[in-house]
Amino acid sequence: MKVGVVGLGTMGAGIAQLCVEAGIDTVGREVTADLGAKGRDRIVHFLTRKVEKGQIESFDIDRLTVTTELAGLAECDVVVEAIVEELGPKRELFAELERICRPDTVLATNTSALSVTEIAAATSSPERVVGMHFFNPAPLMPLVEIVRAELTSDAAFDTAYALGETLGKHPIRCHDTPGFVVNRVLIPLLNDCVRVLDEARVGAEDLDAGMRHGAGWPMGPCELLDLVGIDVHVHASDALYDKLREPRMAAPPRLVAMANAGLLGRKSGRGFYTY
Ligand SMILES: NC(=O)c1ccc[n+]([C@@H]2O[C@H](COP(=O)([O-])OP(=O)(O)OC[C@H]3O[C@@H](n4cnc5c(N)ncnc54)[C@H](O)[C@@H]3O)[C@@H](O)[C@H]2O)c1
Repeated sequence: MKVGVVGLGTMGAGIAQLCVEAGIDTVGREVTADLGAKGRDRIVHFLTRKVEKGQIESFDIDRLTVTTELAGLAECDVVVEAIVEELGPKRELFAELERICRPDTVLATNTSALSVTEIAAATSSPERVVGMHFFNPAPLMPLVEIVRAELTSDAAFDTAYALGETLGKHPIRCHDTPGFVVNRVLIPLLNDCVRVLDEARVGAEDLDAGMRHGAGWPMGPCELLDLVGIDVHVHASDALYDKLREPRMAAPPRLVAMANAGLLGRKSGRGFYTY
C-alpha cells in the first residue's frame, strides 16, 4: 500500500507520521522543498521521541518520500489532502490529482468545514472522493470521521475506513453535512459555555470545574478553547454559522474580541488562562 499526503503542515505532517508508523510507504507533497524538509523533520522529531519514551521500538523513515512534484503521487492507492482550508485551492488540487493518479486511487480530504461534495465536484470521478477528518493533533487523537459525500462509492468509503483502522484510529461513518459529527455538536456547545460565562456571571475556572466535575468532561470548555486556539474556534464557528444560520453556531462576541486582541490561548501565551 502507498499513501500520499498533500500538505505537510500541522495536520498533514501528523497524518504522514501515522502512515510511517504503520509501516506504509508514504509520499508527502509540499509547495517548496524547504516546507517539505520542515514537515519531514517534525515527523522524525516526534517519532524519535516515541522511541525514546519506549512507545514504539523503531521506525523506518525511508518509508517517507518528500516531494514538491504532484507527479510523485501517481502510484498512490490513497491520497489524503491537508492543504489550506479554502475551496478554490482544494478544487484545483483535486482536479490535478484526478489527472495524475490512477483511476482507482481514492482521493480523501481532511477538510473540517468545507463540503466534501463540492470538492469532489471538481473532478469527473467524484465517486472516488471521500472525507477523512482527523483531529488535531492527528497522531494523538483517536478519532477519524469517514465522510460520505453525495456520490462517494462504497469502495472508496471502505478503503478510507480501512486506512483509518490501519493507522490505529477509531473511524466513524457519517455523511457530508456542515461540521460532520463532532464539530457540529461541539462548536455550538462551546459557544453556549462561553455565553454562560456572562449570563451566570461564573468565572472561567469555576465553569471549567463545573463541567469537569458535574458533567464528566475530561477538560473544561475554557481550557479546551485555549488548547484549540480562540481564532481557530471563531473561524470554525463562522463557517458553521454561514452554512446553518443557527444563532448558537455564531461565535460569541467575547470570543471574537479575544481573537482580535490576540488572546488566542496556549499558542499566544494568553487566552482564558495565562500560560
Ligand atoms: N489544524 C486543525 O486543528 C485541523 C483539524 C482538522 C482538520 N484540519 C484541516 O486540515 C487542513 C490542513 O490544516 P492545517 O492546520 O494542517 O494547515 P497548515 O497551514 O498547518 O498546513 C497546510 C500546509 O499545506 C501546504 N500547502 C498549501 N497548498 C498546497 C498544495 N497545493 N500542495 C501541497 N501543499 C500545500 C502549506 O504549505 C502548509 O504547509 C485544512 O483543511 C484544515 O481545515 C485542521
